[in-house]
Amino acid sequence: MSYDVAVIGLGRIGLPLALAFADQGLRVLGIDNAQDRLGAIRDGRMPFREPEADEVLQRVQAAGRFELSERASDAAQADHVVITLGTPTFSHIEIDLSDIRSVLDDLLPHLRADHAVHLRSTIAPGTTEFVAGYLEKHLDLRVGEDVFVAHVPERIAAGRFFEEAKSLPCIIGGVGERSGEVAADLFAKLGAPIVQTTPVQAELAKIWTNILRYANFALPNLLMMDCEQYDANVFEVIDLINRDYPRGGIALPGFTAGTCLRKDFAFSEERSNAPGMLLAVSRVNEGVPLFLVQGIKRRLGSLRDKRVAVLGLAFKAGTDDERDSLAHKLIRLLERELADVAVHDPLVDTPTQSLQDAVLDADAIVVATNHPEFCSPATLRLIAEGAKRDALVVDPWNAWGAAQVFAHTDELLALVGTGAGA
Ligand SMILES: NC(=O)c1ccc[n+]([C@@H]2O[C@H](COP(=O)([O-])OP(=O)(O)OC[C@H]3O[C@@H](n4cnc5c(N)ncnc54)[C@H](O)[C@@H]3O)[C@@H](O)[C@H]2O)c1
Repeated sequence: MSYDVAVIGLGRIGLPLALAFADQGLRVLGIDNAQDRLGAIRDGRMPFREPEADEVLQRVQAAGRFELSERASDAAQADHVVITLGTPTFSHIEIDLSDIRSVLDDLLPHLRADHAVHLRSTIAPGTTEFVAGYLEKHLDLRVGEDVFVAHVPERIAAGRFFEEAKSLPCIIGGVGERSGEVAADLFAKLGAPIVQTTPVQAELAKIWTNILRYANFALPNLLMMDCEQYDANVFEVIDLINRDYPRGGIALPGFTAGTCLRKDFAFSEERSNAPGMLLAVSRVNEGVPLFLVQGIKRRLGSLRDKRVAVLGLAFKAGTDDERDSLAHKLIRLLERELADVAVHDPLVDTPTQSLQDAVLDADAIVVATNHPEFCSPATLRLIAEGAKRDALVVDPWNAWGAAQVFAHTDELLALVGTGAGA
């Protein structure tokens, strides 16, 4: 074999993983069908932000341990094939396996005894057994004895890969007798503890890790909407719930989406025993942008020709990932109200205005992403100075600790106490 491991799909999950394997001394082939992505990596540039990844990329390229290809079939030159392709959902509430199927079809003519295929993508329950069955159906080989298939779900948060890869328990669900052991031979190189289980339990553990977060954030988001209805302050209610109470706590509201949380619940909803329960969770989180737009309209009247500054395009703080960000939905909704929308984000690739230009003469400012850059009293002062006199600030994240979802700048400045050069 020319390589120890091939990683197919060099996205936010696959590329850091491929780099980590190469940094552990393995000979790695990275495969992606996006030419611009391959070009950037060949030039030694990370196509997205991931702390430490730039240095690791330089190191493994200099050591000659990381090569690239655009052909999935080349993965058969490695003992281990790790699949890190995207797994979106169809609007039919069903996993879209088309990328995985297409790569399997490319690989099938080249697979032979002793090859191991590890599914790192997030998948619906039953998908690992489907992949094993698909290989057996087309090859004269037994999975678990001649070739190996396992689900090794990725639970690391983007932006924390190199910090968490060594410590987060690595769940492995292998098919048949030996697939789990073969997967552990590879993934143990990352240094994290290995936890062996069945394929379907590995699948359930991953999607329910995300479902738990998605539902956890839906509760404060629903409470925020209830509080507006009763003219109550959500942050005060949350404090009343959590303060010195020993049995758990409620999270804070905010925009809850992103490429994983927004779709992974559907992998359970596909065959749910409580159909609609998680769809309701999704509807709450997806409803937050409209709730904020309606809240602005209640306070300012029609938004036609009003200037609204949206701060943040990324789906969460500190990332440049805009996929499935609710900031985009917020902007679309504001534009449908005929508002003039200006946008600032210090991290994303999409060109945006400077903070000063975005907030200039704004009637309303919405904190869509709680990037650390926004959360200083100095930024609040800058907003107040640039925007219209006593503009409305919408801050579901409580970025400045003022504990107001909707407040005017004078009130916020007084609450945050930014007067003395904070
Ligand atoms: N992004 C996250 O934070 C995160 C976290 C945990 C799990 N996951 C899961 O990991 C998987 C990958 O997510 P991602 O965010 O890295 O996706 P991504 O879209 O960033 O990466 C997928 C890559 O696969 C490439 N690709 C698509 N079809 C291909 C083909 N036929 N041959 C070769 N390359 C092909 C694309 O060009 C892209 O670079 C998904 O299942 C996702 O749910 C993601």
